[in-house]
Amino acid sequence: MSPLKAVRGVRDILPGESPRWQQVEAAARAVFEAYGYREIRLPLFERTELFARGIGDETDIVKKEMYTFEDRGGESLTLRPEATASLLRAYIEHGLHVQPKPVRLYTLGPMFRYERPQAGRYRQFHQADVEALGEIHPAVDAEVIAMLVDFFGALRLADRLELHINSIGDAGTRPVYVARLVEYLTPRREGLCPECRTRLDRNPLRVLDCKVPDCQPIIEKAPSILDSLSPEAAQHFESVRQCLDAMGVRYTVNPRLVRGLDYYVRTTFELLTTELGAQNAVAGGGRYDGLIKQLEGPPDPGVGFAIGLERMVLLLRDVEVAATPLALLIPLGDAALKRLLPLARRARQEGVGVELGYGGRKLQKELERANRLGVGWAVIAGENELAQGEAVLKEMKTGEQRRVPLTRLADELIALARGRKDPV
Ligand code: HAM
Repeated sequence: MSPLKAVRGVRDILPGESPRWQQVEAAARAVFEAYGYREIRLPLFERTELFARGIGDETDIVKKEMYTFEDRGGESLTLRPEATASLLRAYIEHGLHVQPKPVRLYTLGPMFRYERPQAGRYRQFHQADVEALGEIHPAVDAEVIAMLVDFFGALRLADRLELHINSIGDAGTRPVYVARLVEYLTPRREGLCPECRTRLDRNPLRVLDCKVPDCQPIIEKAPSILDSLSPEAAQHFESVRQCLDAMGVRYTVNPRLVRGLDYYVRTTFELLTTELGAQNAVAGGGRYDGLIKQLEGPPDPGVGFAIGLERMVLLLRDVEVAATPLALLIPLGDAALKRLLPLARRARQEGVGVELGYGGRKLQKELERANRLGVGWAVIAGENELAQGEAVLKEMKTGEQRRVPLTRLADELIALARGRKDPV
């Protein structure tokens, strides 16, 4: 690979794609803020220990996927593989827990994992991450999940996704289930894929969300974690479900949804799509009571999720996004250019996107450019028009044209833009 090309698994987001990114980010901000979340911006790297302690030593992320390096002072640092640990670090460090609970925070930005790149999976990728901190009530879990669904609704994607929820019980009682699972899996060890055989020894729960076909018949018959919940965890899950039902949020209970990070207790959830092949999780999250304390903070509970923005943008591929300017202004000659330049500026100051010719090209060439840009209108000002203080306004689709006084041109363009449905 040429040293002058982007690193494997790391992508440029080119101008053609940017409008979709902006649309996704704007929807995230609007929906999260309506639910009372405020933005926090976090550093891209942290001390390695934060992730080792926060995410769990036995997770794939910490064992195999972190970008870890020593800085010039000899300190071990890691590019963040996710946002939750960093966000909790900031919550503790800045004493944000003294604010009214739940403290609702969100952050957007790149994450880094050394995974095998494929469609929808990258080594630098972006998340919109949300955390509600300091409140144990199951209504918060339901509210967080409803907000996630509303975010997809705002992008008109809700009916292309399926919400799966589960409870993986409390940290204290989970060992009972894990023991049952190991008892079930051990005699079937030979039927499992090599990866799952290792998981059986190190992190047996993770066998449940293996995607390898050979493992499926064994996983399907495994005991359900929902049968091993403590009464408190079962009650919490029941209550989350009632709150979701009350809001009309549809979901599937999936007892095999265990997630890849160690910090979860009780509620876990994922939004899945059938449209992106193996990378079918568009968002995932859950509750992590105990984690803040483990990171030397107060004993505050928490619940949150992260959305994979690349996967969102892939889903929006077929949704039309307009980013074309409204009009191309075509001055024919230098005098016309001087007349149109300030008018273009005025329209732009009003947020109306216009493109300008610079007076040196033939009209025919400029009209071809207008077509390629996909603008709705061309404004032509030659010597004749200028002498009469006018310009020709031509609608590209119909070819219809009319004359507009130059003194009114900027207002006319602004009015056309306001009448247009798509953003300018
Ligand atoms: P996660 O499931 O590891 O959870 O990641 C959340 C989402 O990020 C995934 O569902 C996926 O859409 C996206 N994603 C993950 N890895 C990649 C990748 N290599 N390339 C592209 N997209 C990817 C977390 O990160 C937790 N911190 C979520 C959370 C917040 N839980 C509680 N609060």
